[in-house]
Amino acid sequence: MTEVISINNFKGGVSKTSSTAGIAYVLSEIKNKKVLVVDLDPQADVTDLLLKTYKENNETSLNEIMNSNDIESILDEKEDEILDLLLRKSTDVNENDLYHTLKEKKTLSEAIIELSENLAIVPSDFNMIGYPYLLEDLKLNRIDGAKYFNSFLEEVKENYDFILIDTPPTLSDFANSGIYSCDYSLIVVQTHVRSFNAVEKLISHLSAFRDLHGNDFDIVGLLPVMFKNQGKIDNFIIKLLKHVYGSYVFENKVMQRERVKYWDAIGIKNEDMHDSNVIGMYENIANELLERMRDHNG
Ligand SMILES: Nc1ncnc2c1ncn2[C@@H]1O[C@H](COP(=O)(O)OP(=O)(O)OP(=O)(O)O)[C@@H](O)[C@H]1O
Ligand SMILES: [Mg+2]
Repeated sequence: MTEVISINNFKGGVSKTSSTAGIAYVLSEIKNKKVLVVDLDPQADVTDLLLKTYKENNETSLNEIMNSNDIESILDEKEDEILDLLLRKSTDVNENDLYHTLKEKKTLSEAIIELSENLAIVPSDFNMIGYPYLLEDLKLNRIDGAKYFNSFLEEVKENYDFILIDTPPTLSDFANSGIYSCDYSLIVVQTHVRSFNAVEKLISHLSAFRDLHGNDFDIVGLLPVMFKNQGKIDNFIIKLLKHVYGSYVFENKVMQRERVKYWDAIGIKNEDMHDSNVIGMYENIANELLERMRDHNG
């Protein structure tokens, strides 16, 4: 059975994309599961991150530049090349991108890029900014609009054990399409005060969404992210989350880690001790996620 998980939070920059990528990486590479990542965000961050992980072979040079003592003179010499490497915007994505697939009613399999034996992605790019207008042109109301993407996903669903949907930080057609398609919403919560406030709002949206659409996804849990061990606020927010949301709060957390920031530049690596520590962290999270879904399925 395929489990579809939408990674949600309407707050920006709270590790939705990094969590999606980290969990997808572990499920496919370590757990040997067939995984499809769906990028429903026009920012295309998870697309870029995973293409950098699997499709690029010049990342070492970027790593070398970052480690150099004289970054300034390398920048003087090779600014264009470096910007190209760093900001490479999904060059592997072509007319089969998600927007055109949805617009021209092609099958989703035409848009899928195989990244490894077990991992594939439905890539996004900036064209996806047109998605709300596309739904409008198709004269779909808000309810049918959210269903539209799911009809495409259904066609390819059975090829995967897990489908992870990365959504943008807005209450929008993008997020609603992810929510409509999912069996589980995984809510990420940065252990900061504002992020805590945002969770309350997200949960009421999810509940209203379920009532409106009559579908039956569940919240699989609240995953604390970017946690600082010594942070007073961080530790307070964890206690508060547990007090308010009880066992919904994951025992495992995404810690604040420099390596995760590296991923934006060079993709996910598993080459040294720091890499394997970070991957181990996501492995614990993936294990807990699997356990929670098992418990739920009874
Ligand atoms: N565990 C972490 N430790 C340190 N930095 C992190 C961590 N997780 C994410 N970051 C950094 O924080 C920034 C935001 O992360 P990310 O893109 O995953 O968040 P997001 O919620 O998907 O953002 P958006 O709302 O724009 O989609 C990125 O620069 C990322 O590298
Ligand atoms: Mg993101």
